[in-house]
Amino acid sequence: MKKKTRAAATSTAKLRKTTPAGRKVAPRGPRAAVTAAPATSHDAKLVIRRLKTQLARTLARIEELEASADTDFLLDIPNRRGFERELNRAIAYIKRYRTSGALIVLDVDRLKPINDAFGHAAGDQVLKAIVATLLAQVRSSDVIGRLGGDEFALLLWNLSETDAKAKAADVKIVHKCTAVRHALSAERKGVDAVSIDGFECAGHPGEDDIPGLILIPAAARVLKIPMVASGGFADGRGMAAALVLGAEGVNMGTRFCLTQEAPIHENIKNALVKGSERDTQLIFRKLRNTARIFSNEIAREVATIEDRAEGYEYEDIRQLVAGTRGRHALESGEIDWSHRPWGCFHWTQVAWDRS
Ligand SMILES: Cc1cc2nc3c(=O)[nH]c(=O)nc-3n(C[C@H](O)[C@H](O)[C@H](O)COP(=O)(O)O)c2cc1C
Repeated sequence: MKKKTRAAATSTAKLRKTTPAGRKVAPRGPRAAVTAAPATSHDAKLVIRRLKTQLARTLARIEELEASADTDFLLDIPNRRGFERELNRAIAYIKRYRTSGALIVLDVDRLKPINDAFGHAAGDQVLKAIVATLLAQVRSSDVIGRLGGDEFALLLWNLSETDAKAKAADVKIVHKCTAVRHALSAERKGVDAVSIDGFECAGHPGEDDIPGLILIPAAARVLKIPMVASGGFADGRGMAAALVLGAEGVNMGTRFCLTQEAPIHENIKNALVKGSERDTQLIFRKLRNTARIFSNEIAREVATIEDRAEGYEYEDIRQLVAGTRGRHALESGEIDWSHRPWGCFHWTQVAWDRS
């Protein structure tokens, strides 16, 4: 204990500043109060208590600011307050110029079970995906707002009541499934179509390991709603095969990452297209959240941790698989900087100049 006290006192001394004349002066002002190390454990407790009070005050202030702001912080769209302001402005304009507009209110069902089962971070991802889908369906002049937890509103300009009804009915839900039983369950719950993903697919192929050649006809036999086949499709031959197996179409993920239009650094595209059908690997298997990714240095590092005899937790690999790393890799072209969801396919499926 004594030793610790002496070390703390020494570091406090080191913090003192030196004037140009070489004279030592004690640090001053609020910065000094933050950086100076406590001399005793009693001091340390006081500092911790003070920091906790400051933190609580800051959090309360953030809450206050969020409530008074017009934007939903998570989704970056107008919140109830912002939306109501837009709506009032629109109503005034519509009355004055005798034009038209439509208001659609959307209530997202079954969000709570997602939050309960997978945590709020997963629920937040679902909300973000919903907003992305809605934004893709409206014009840039239209407004989408979040009225509350799972309640959204759309303000659509120059739309008749009939068109608004058609628009509201136009939102289609396609659910990704990796097992026939999941597809049937989604069908019962009212989705419009399913994407049935074989074991070859990028991202999460599920835990049953059924390749598309088996899964697609098995699903086609029992499903009544349309089904697109996913996993390993990259050209017309694959699509023809999927149609023969009973799918209504195909979904291509990995292949589209290699198009000229994909906003991904050329280095990544080149490195990936030079890979073969043996260059993907599975991670998160023991967490029962398996993901198929491109086999690079990061992927191998994750695999080494996952293979440890003493076991591992998600925390041990969290830094390696962080989304921010992925974004950096896509922009900078550093192929080994992040893990990359990648489907199992062969370069011969890509019309690509490899010379
Ligand atoms: C870059 C990329 C990211 C993906 N992210 C996810 C994901 O987060 N969750 C998921 O279930 N599937 C994800 N997928 C899989 C796709 O949803 C799709 O099912 C799959 O890509 C189809 O197989 P294919 O890549 O062999 O064409 C991702 C695919 C790619 C290429």
